[in-house]
Amino acid sequence: MDKQTQHLLDAALAAQKNSYSPYSNFKVGAAILANDNTTYHGCNVENASYPLGQCAEAGAISSMVASGATKIEQVLIASPNNAFCPPCGGCRQKIKEFASESTLVHMATQDGQIKTVPFKDLLPLAFEL
Ligand code: THU
Repeated sequence: MDKQTQHLLDAALAAQKNSYSPYSNFKVGAAILANDNTTYHGCNVENASYPLGQCAEAGAISSMVASGATKIEQVLIASPNNAFCPPCGGCRQKIKEFASESTLVHMATQDGQIKTVPFKDLLPLAFEL
């Protein structure tokens, strides 16, 4: 694994530890490498009113935007188990807002597997205004 991916993985795993997911017990961490060369991270934050829960990717995107960065160069999603956790449909659209077709999406498992795909493979025919 290259240094950049390792850095993203470390950031996602650190955020994952803080996941607030008492309803699903499914802890997710996400980290973004943005166009300001800074790493932003997030975790899923659930709510007793289930639909109000927020995915890890959304938290990382909010942190990036609040800090003034405008593009996602790479994003990594850390799964809580040994299966990959590809971003949900809603998160694909949220990522799309700040990504390009070549933005790299890394998926990492607890046992150290990494799968990397270009964003265009995850959301073909994406909606845009
Ligand atoms: N979850 C994420 O954080 N990211 C995804 O891409 C998939 C799902 C969270 C939402 C919820 O808190 C838990 O995982 C179970 O669905």
